[in-house]
Amino acid sequence: MNSRDIKDDKYYIEKIKELKEKRRAIILAHNYQRPEIQDLADLVGDSLDLSKKAQASDVETIVFCGVQFMAESAAILSPEKTVLLPVKEAGCQLADMATVQELRKKKEENPEATVVCYVNSSAQVKAESDIGCTSANGVEIVNSLKEDKILFVPDEHLGRYVASKTKKDVILWKGFCPAHYNLLPKDILRTEEEHPEAKVLVHPECRLAVIQLADEAFSTSGMLNYVKESEAKEFIIGTEMGLIHRLKKENPEKNFYVPSENLICPSMKLITLKEVAQSLEKMRYKIEIPEEVRKKAKKSLDRMLEV
Ligand code: 13P
Repeated sequence: MNSRDIKDDKYYIEKIKELKEKRRAIILAHNYQRPEIQDLADLVGDSLDLSKKAQASDVETIVFCGVQFMAESAAILSPEKTVLLPVKEAGCQLADMATVQELRKKKEENPEATVVCYVNSSAQVKAESDIGCTSANGVEIVNSLKEDKILFVPDEHLGRYVASKTKKDVILWKGFCPAHYNLLPKDILRTEEEHPEAKVLVHPECRLAVIQLADEAFSTSGMLNYVKESEAKEFIIGTEMGLIHRLKKENPEKNFYVPSENLICPSMKLITLKEVAQSLEKMRYKIEIPEEVRKKAKKSLDRMLEV
């Protein structure tokens, strides 16, 4: 980064601090955000942490540095607060792979199935589902249900991983996260050869063949907890590379290796300090969800949070 950029950073950080007071705002950042956004945020976390913390925070405005569905989850849980997504194009390709029309059709074809919906989905899709789940609690949620037939949307790979850990009959949806999907078994094998002592941690959105090569499959917060507790000194991290910043910051004595250059989510990188400052200044872009959809979507998230 050149000195001009650092000067800009300082300017925007001061501006954000000032505007945050004025707007009574909290800044939340997902673990995949740019380092400077993570460092600026009041809270950094995974999708489950952030949805719960957004609900509990006593503020008027939530600035959600993440992608659309995450900001929507905050708006579903906190209707009395204004939720802002600093860049309106910050969508999630996985979430966009399930529309409410397609889901209704699939439900008609499988009327006996209980719909479990990964939080990486639109508010409308959540509203059409019976219960939500995150990558951290998918197995627990599915096992908590008395029904045996499950329609799991929209991530085929997380669904397959969950199915491998339960005795339920799981119908899979053809959706995937491009960043995790592009991580291949050969990438893990090559990086393991280069770092034979390293523990391999991957996200459950990866292909099952990749998960089977790993020591553990975890959500982003699961990885952070595991690394903190582990006696190992080296780790191969099979998830979006934004997580490396926090891993290094919290474990300066440990080493982390990225097994593929493809482990990057372009949407997560759209949010910059300038965009956050402008978001607070102009109060944009507000997440608006029709009340009827919000109430139904909240039911499925509340059911998840109860479990
Ligand atoms: P978690 O932070 O809940 O692991 O989810 C990350 C994510 O959205 C992967 O695409």
